[in-house]
Amino acid sequence: MADAYILGIESSCDETAAAVVRSGEQVISNVVFSQIATHQPYGGIVPELASREHLRAIVPVVRQALAEAGQTYASIDALAVTQGPGLAGSLLVGVSFAKALAFAQDKPLVAVNHLEGHIHAVLLEERQKGSLAVQFPLMTLVVSGGHTHLYLAEQHGAAWKYQNIGHTRDDAAGEAFDKVAKLLALGYPGGPVIDRLAPHGNAEAVRFPPAQIKHRQRGDTSPVPARPHFDFSYSGIKTAVLRYVETHAMEASIERRRVALSSLASPSADAIRALCDRQTLDLLASFQRAMVEDLVSKTLAAAQEYGIATLFVSGGVAANHELRVTFEQRAAQEGLPVYFPSRPLSTDNAAMIAAAAYPKFLAGDFAAPELSAEASLTLA
Ligand code: KG4
Ligand code: ZN
Repeated sequence: MADAYILGIESSCDETAAAVVRSGEQVISNVVFSQIATHQPYGGIVPELASREHLRAIVPVVRQALAEAGQTYASIDALAVTQGPGLAGSLLVGVSFAKALAFAQDKPLVAVNHLEGHIHAVLLEERQKGSLAVQFPLMTLVVSGGHTHLYLAEQHGAAWKYQNIGHTRDDAAGEAFDKVAKLLALGYPGGPVIDRLAPHGNAEAVRFPPAQIKHRQRGDTSPVPARPHFDFSYSGIKTAVLRYVETHAMEASIERRRVALSSLASPSADAIRALCDRQTLDLLASFQRAMVEDLVSKTLAAAQEYGIATLFVSGGVAANHELRVTFEQRAAQEGLPVYFPSRPLSTDNAAMIAAAAYPKFLAGDFAAPELSAEASLTLA
């Protein structure tokens, strides 16, 4: 089979991204236009603004990805686009654009699940390094702003199949990082800033009780699964941080930081740190430690239960330093190989979408002309 150059397009959340990937194994170009500056003043993503920004960015971003790859609309072999899950209006921009382009250029279009994209970010980079040696059973933790999901992944010929064996009951892990950062007036998105600040605090300072999850809700008459689910829950820790702020009278210092940061266009982590007292840094370090402990311990418990031979960790939160180090140490103790994408491919990008499309391209699994965006698409 000759090389296939796939143009990937991703617009599910607040990044407009396009990339060209060769045969699911080499990133030729990878352009990500982040809307952080647009959403920062609101402390979170404003869906209407996200759609408008995608509309503005999509043509220049796609053109740049093609130009950097030395490709044209006519020369690529196929298009791939994120169908879901994500924000409906944002997804619609990418899907409409990709459908129109595929129709105009008479190219095949592959619809990709965003979560499958995060998983393929790992496969892509391992292939690129020439070191892909995954052993099955393979489990993957997708941990992002919208998801904290555990999947078993299997390969059937070229195609991949997934089984969900755990997910968050409420907030996703990235959402907890973002909400805690917003509460403490640290800006948006919260994950990267907490990642930078946490090493300056004492992670033992504040104790957060581990999340308690009832595995069967009252009135649930469905059959008991043969194996337990490994669910997560992060709304409790967010509330615990809020309670800590209230009981330790931190509001005034948070307000001072909010005012000081509102006068800075894009503050550096050092500038933000200078506005944080010890109590705040300790709280952040303790929060991050509790998040990492919960993610790592539950994931490794699931890996043990399912006899997992290879673990992937991907999605925006997989960029977190403490999470990576802790996973590496603890998985090594159990003799379990763990793989992460590089940090740029952990957060949203289109290279992972083009990579996930490749097996479907080989199988001729193309999108129908009436393809529509699916905000709540699940992975199976
Ligand atoms: O995968 P992603 O880019 O978009 C979604 O699909 O949601 O993930 C974004 C999420 C945000 O919640 C962000 O705060 C979090 O990933 N994140 C991090 C880090 N970088 C991004 N969380 C912790 N540490 C980081 N370094
Ligand atoms: Zn994502």
